[in-house]
Amino acid sequence: MVSAFPPAGMIKERMAAMTTALKDLTEIRSPAGWTGDEITHSTDWLYQLSNAEVMELETVGTKFLMDDPDLRTVTADRYPLPVTASALVAWMHDMDRGRGFVLVRGLRSELYSDALSAAIFFLLGLHLGRPMAQNQFGDLFDHVVATSDKTMDDPSALPSRTRDRLNFHSDSSDVVGLMCLRGAREGGASILISGVTIYNEVVRRRPDLAPLLYETWHYDWYRQDHDAPARYYSSPMVSFVDGVFSMYAGSNMIRSAQDYPEVPRMTPQQYELLDLLDEIFLEPGLPVTMDFRPGDIQWLLNYAALHSRSGYRDFEQPERKRHLLRLWLKRDVHRPLTPGFGKPFVARKVGLTVSDEDLRNRISQVCYPRREWGL
Ligand SMILES: [Fe+2]
Repeated sequence: MVSAFPPAGMIKERMAAMTTALKDLTEIRSPAGWTGDEITHSTDWLYQLSNAEVMELETVGTKFLMDDPDLRTVTADRYPLPVTASALVAWMHDMDRGRGFVLVRGLRSELYSDALSAAIFFLLGLHLGRPMAQNQFGDLFDHVVATSDKTMDDPSALPSRTRDRLNFHSDSSDVVGLMCLRGAREGGASILISGVTIYNEVVRRRPDLAPLLYETWHYDWYRQDHDAPARYYSSPMVSFVDGVFSMYAGSNMIRSAQDYPEVPRMTPQQYELLDLLDEIFLEPGLPVTMDFRPGDIQWLLNYAALHSRSGYRDFEQPERKRHLLRLWLKRDVHRPLTPGFGKPFVARKVGLTVSDEDLRNRISQVCYPRREWGL
């Protein structure tokens, strides 16, 4: 039975959050506070690889693929990238202290095997952070490809395996990297919106609701991870510690968590805030939409911007389906965050035994999607 009163710990947490919120309720100025209109009118966010960088990545990526090391233990120092090093530093700065994302263009993935594209992508990820497990099997590499015809109104649908439009949300890592192998026949654009901009819009339009951003919200865990240890988890939407702003949100996941009786009921003000966020997400000029071309890599700091995707249509031929590779990275940079902020990491399914032939710890294994997963 659900108590009408929140536990004492929750009250204390909420009071502490409210105190912070009331103190900090002003608009925030930050390089991460951009609008879609500003991004569209600049090219700062697009990093065009030089010929020398592409050559280095193809050469070292080929060596990585031939060695085919265990992805759980391989380290970046075994595969140095001296030519690309300054670009990697710039991308890290873009993510941690700049606009929060960068689109890297110039890889010739249409000329590579999918395995070589995956090797180059993983190699870059290894230099930017620690690749994290993305599913209950412990895979450090995953695929965004429609292996299922389910739509997102089906609770058993896995977002990465459908063609449906996805609403704005944050992933459960510090960084999410996406590499495009093949684009859609129609649609499938990547859409980002700055967390600082969302915050400032809430402060400007409804300052009375802005403190709620610091409160604890409950998110649907089951719909993101069918083997999660509970059906929901909790996190504030905003963390503002030592002048560092971070956002973690997803209004659909908050709404659907209300389907579970064990989740505390939302107040009318909380519903009002979710409606306001949905209004801001759709406001022309605030989000930025970018098309993915084959070879493009998007590196995004989850704390800086929320992401979504437009729905898409695939080509008939299976080999021409829209196909993105995905990495989740941990950045060990000691970013100050409110305790309990964000989503718990993906846990290995308790009692799950993975047979030797189903182990996918090498590029030669993970460069293909698990076809049976997400059906
Ligand atoms: Fe996502």
